[in-house]
Amino acid sequence: MTDDVLVVHGDTPLRGEVRVRGAKNLVSKAMVAALLGDCPSRLLDVPRIRDVEVVSDMLELHGVRVSPGKEPGELRLDPTNVERANVDELNVHAGSSRIPILMCGPLLHRLGHAFIPDLGGCHIGDRPIDFHLSALRQFGAVVEKSPQGLSLTAPAGLHGTKFELPYPSVGATEQVLLTAVLADGVTEVRNAAVEPEIIDLICVLQKMGAVIKVHTDRVIEIEGVRSLSGYAHRPIPDRIEAASWGAAALATGGDVFVRGARQADMMTFLNLFRAVGGRFEVDDGSGVDSGGIRFWHPGEELTAVALETDVHPGFMTDWQQPMVVALTQARGLSIVHETVYERRLGYTEELCSMGATIQVYRECLGGTPCRFGRRNFKHSAVIAGPSKLHAADLRIPDLRAGFSHLIAALAAEGTSTVYGVSLISRGYEDFEAKLTGLGAHVGRP
Ligand code: EPU
Repeated sequence: MTDDVLVVHGDTPLRGEVRVRGAKNLVSKAMVAALLGDCPSRLLDVPRIRDVEVVSDMLELHGVRVSPGKEPGELRLDPTNVERANVDELNVHAGSSRIPILMCGPLLHRLGHAFIPDLGGCHIGDRPIDFHLSALRQFGAVVEKSPQGLSLTAPAGLHGTKFELPYPSVGATEQVLLTAVLADGVTEVRNAAVEPEIIDLICVLQKMGAVIKVHTDRVIEIEGVRSLSGYAHRPIPDRIEAASWGAAALATGGDVFVRGARQADMMTFLNLFRAVGGRFEVDDGSGVDSGGIRFWHPGEELTAVALETDVHPGFMTDWQQPMVVALTQARGLSIVHETVYERRLGYTEELCSMGATIQVYRECLGGTPCRFGRRNFKHSAVIAGPSKLHAADLRIPDLRAGFSHLIAALAAEGTSTVYGVSLISRGYEDFEAKLTGLGAHVGRP
């Protein structure tokens, strides 16, 4: 299929401006939150990405009316007539997203029953849902697994509970929030994730009438309420996409202004970007101008660094792949320790086929031993640079690695063919048009 293949002409510094919209990893959850309301919600600045389409379809199958609002990028979500969805129709979406697991609590509250088809998402580790299921069971849900998916009921209703997550999982924290807000009584979750997208989801729920307290030390307390209304919300900007363009500017020797990027959510990325030798300048904007961050290559040699991915406020696992492409251009040995997902370095093989020198290890090469040490996961990497990259045929394995392959192809000498690019549209709006706008020469074969 030619629409899944992109031909990328290399040696092209990206220069110009791109705009990022609402964060993919908030927008999809805010759409699910709309199910909890007794009147319509308005979500602004929604990117046109595949994940949003899948969640819209799943909500529509449950009777939510999803329609464009007045502003460009605005979605209206009307949950007034929520109803049970047809299992065969839901199963059309089996394997296409991980968001449906977050519909459990809201559907149980609204309908007393939920059916969740098999989940999808990127293959970057096992991605179990054990924390989700044990939290739901503690709230009072009865979960039955079938070959098609999960069926949940709550015969005695859902009631508040105390829960300690074994790891500060983003999804499991969202599961607890979306279930606890309408559960009977108080819920306390310890070792919760506190990513900016989680805090933004809490803002959405607070606008709807929820009572949520974020305490110090990863403790969140939720007081269940009887009903919630709709919301109007402008999401935080997509800090993963913003960092991807920043890394692309650095890897290609370019200069990109990312309109909409926000410093507060990206501090850890900016620290590392500076340590490598990249330059950036924050524009706080004024009035209706949202401002943004300009990222550029200084023209001097870049420096190798050690980086370890971690939960917030650490270096995001989703920033790792684009940054590694830039690190192939830095002098010396860079070390990457991936501590969030056990299999998020597989894409480096493709970079090696382009001339990069990257060796992956099972040992924890970072300062802190992680959950994956002494197990069979190659989750640390050493990158020796700088390497002259050359064109190759590349196959995209997952969303973030896919974008990194594109950056590598742009930085490389010659013309690369990249297969499986439709995966990138799961999380990057109009990426092809944006690349072209930055001076890249890309096209269909
Ligand atoms: N985990 C478990 N059991 C669970 C849940 C998670 O063991 O029940 C483990 C995972 O296997 C992983 C770790 O906990 O090793 C962290 O997973 P988490 O639940 O935090 O990830 P997620 O909610 O599935 C979201 C983003 C990811 C992002 C991670 C970490 C969405 C839709 N996805 O995933 O984004 O990498 O948080 O910040 O919000 C992406 O956008 O490309 C992407 C993969």
